[in-house]
Amino acid sequence: MSTLRLPGLVDAHVHLREPGYEYKEDFTTGTMAALAGGVTTVLDMPNTNPPTSTPERLADKARRAAAHAVCDVGLFVGATTTEGDAYLPAADQACGLKIYVSDTFGSLRIDTLEMMHRLFRSWAEQAAQVGYRMAGAAHGLGPVAVHAEELMAPVCLALSHIYAVPLHIVHVSRRSEIELIRAAKMRGIPVTCEVTPHHLFLSTEDLPRLGARGDMRPRLATPDDVAALWENLDVVDIFATDHAPHTLAEKGIDVSEPPASPPPGVPGLETMLPLLLTAAHEGRLTLDDIVTRCADNPRRIYGLPAQPETWIEVDVDAAYELRNEGLQTKVGWTPFAGQRVYGRVERVILRGETVYAHGTVLATPGSGKVLFQRVGD
Ligand code: NCD
Ligand code: ZN
Repeated sequence: MSTLRLPGLVDAHVHLREPGYEYKEDFTTGTMAALAGGVTTVLDMPNTNPPTSTPERLADKARRAAAHAVCDVGLFVGATTTEGDAYLPAADQACGLKIYVSDTFGSLRIDTLEMMHRLFRSWAEQAAQVGYRMAGAAHGLGPVAVHAEELMAPVCLALSHIYAVPLHIVHVSRRSEIELIRAAKMRGIPVTCEVTPHHLFLSTEDLPRLGARGDMRPRLATPDDVAALWENLDVVDIFATDHAPHTLAEKGIDVSEPPASPPPGVPGLETMLPLLLTAAHEGRLTLDDIVTRCADNPRRIYGLPAQPETWIEVDVDAAYELRNEGLQTKVGWTPFAGQRVYGRVERVILRGETVYAHGTVLATPGSGKVLFQRVGD
């Protein structure tokens, strides 16, 4: 057995579902799943019900997370067609702005250039007053994170360039997109991007086997797209899970009357590190590749505060099969069930406390911190 010490990981893209969909996940179960996966900071997406689209809703979410989370949590605000940029007065208390411009779960899709223009312009105007956090300042705004597939990617790159707004393109899945991002970076556009484990380790060839368990947005891509992500790994800044839990019944699995349109999304917090360590075991990645993309880069891109006395202990030689049984996520399944992996999280230490050890979460709900909140709020 060879135990390694790594930094606490950051998962910069999770859906913890509170408020509105607590039957899928909540701040306690979602952050328990994070600790089990070696993740000590999660960034939570705004497509809850109601969505995190106003200062009041962000404050409400922050109170819930502060009371129930067991790891640290940053919260995105999200743009809506009805409320536009109502979040602006609280923008500096969010980890960033999320804009959905492609097919997704929930009601946050923006579909006009007029609104896109306004969202980028007002974020840039706000930043002109308070600065960008990623520039190293303790205060300020985070980047604009976009779900922008296919032709929507160049739209967002152009707006980022025009307004000098740092852009983060989430869950990139296609050759055309990753090659475009490489070209944009070469021309100095302030863009970063992320790739999920499911887009690295699964493709359309897995769909017959997975059925609805393999349905997410972006959809699984072709083997050539997957190859392109691996070929362009130097362009990939972050590995993030897009942990998007839905129940198996909602997915239409093992129910007598499957729903007409099952919601897209798969859980991922507990399987990311073993999958990446397995790729390292096979020589497709280095440990440094993993730490850079799961800790250093998300910390820099989102300007996250340091977590003192925080680390994870991983048995990199442990060989086992990923299973649905024993998962901390409320939905209790993973599209990777049955897969052989190397690398098990043994212990997680957060601010000097052992918060996870050998399959058991030891932290008490409320011990996680909510990032970027103003003192006294
Ligand atoms: C996400 C969800 O379920 O919230 N689903 C998904 O397929 N990725 C939404 C999203 O990230 O688009
Ligand atoms: Zn997502």
